[in-house]
Amino acid sequence: MYDQYGRNLHYLRVSLTDACNLRCVYCMPEETKFQPRWKLMSDKEMLTLVKIAASLGVDKIRLTGGEPTLRQNLTSLIQEIRAIPNIRDLSMTTNGILLEEMAADLQQAGLDRVNISLDTLDPERYHAITRWGHLEDVLRGITAAEKAGLLPLKINVVVTRGFNDQEVVEMARLTQEHEWEVRYIELMPVGDIADFATEAVVTSAETRSRIEAAFGPLERVEDYNGHDPARPYRIPGAPGKIGFISSVSQPFCAGCTRLRLTADGKLRLCLLRDDEVDLLTPLRKGANRETLRKIMAEAAWRKPWGHGLAEAVRPQQRVMSQIGG
Ligand code: GTP
Ligand code: 5AD
Ligand code: SF4
Repeated sequence: MYDQYGRNLHYLRVSLTDACNLRCVYCMPEETKFQPRWKLMSDKEMLTLVKIAASLGVDKIRLTGGEPTLRQNLTSLIQEIRAIPNIRDLSMTTNGILLEEMAADLQQAGLDRVNISLDTLDPERYHAITRWGHLEDVLRGITAAEKAGLLPLKINVVVTRGFNDQEVVEMARLTQEHEWEVRYIELMPVGDIADFATEAVVTSAETRSRIEAAFGPLERVEDYNGHDPARPYRIPGAPGKIGFISSVSQPFCAGCTRLRLTADGKLRLCLLRDDEVDLLTPLRKGANRETLRKIMAEAAWRKPWGHGLAEAVRPQQRVMSQIGG
């Protein structure tokens, strides 16, 4: 599947639910309503759409949320996606809270790897950022994921001024002890946290200079493929890697290969633009496979060139938890 700018859209992020067991300050309000079940894709509907995407060239699937581990029948969904011949990389982005009990089963079902959100190593700060979370649950989840072989493991750190910006050096130290990739993400203005995000954003340049002040210059890791949002670096001699996802200060839209399928069955063309194309309604009205293929391919063709944050265009229709990052 190509867009009009020649980008090969082979990576589909599938949101399994808009619900979450945390309430991160940069993601969603504490009081929130989730969509009723009937509005969300059933397992069968989701698999139909994922298979169509695979037939159009998608070979990389990431399961997201909300929190994907809250989805019922997650292991059987993973088995079914794993069985689709084209899919070579099947991963999940999770807050890790439920991984301790689930990691081994998910790996057995066919999940390749996980990216886990962890913004701080301080229990009180963790609770302040996630509002509801307990740090020890994630740490146990990370251990379980490693033990189950859900590797390589990436840790996503959203850097938020006043919450964890003073701790980026401590987080980098993790890469000296573990073979993890710690990735610092610039806070993005989405939905009703947009004003907060604009005030609390910390650029990758600032994060990097704090890290380099502590460890000296970072070394570039050579195996970068040009498409992932983070170009990898390393503290000299460390087993793990460090990445910077600079969506705000240095957009990487030119190399974007991503499409998103929301839990309510819309193809979202760009994380930071509200353009979406409804796939679930035609599916429910009985559209056949060829028709759905055509709708998907034509929508992909119209993927916007990039986000408009520099021109103050901010996505308004959804909060981040309904998109899945
Ligand atoms: P890998 O396959 O391991 O490279 O994962 P990933 O980086 O694609 O997935 P993950 O869910 O871990 O994404 C980390 C963060 O990168 C997301 O939470 C977003 O903040 C950011 N990100 C991912 N895709 C995009 C994108 O298309 N545009 C922008 N602006 N940010 C993105
Ligand atoms: N800006 C940047 N990243 C965000 N995430 C959630 N909200 C935001 C935001 N406003 C990240 C989470 C997780 C992924 C799913 O999205 O930390 O890594
Ligand atoms: Fe839940 Fe992830 Fe949003 Fe936090 S960032 S509230 S863990 S969906």
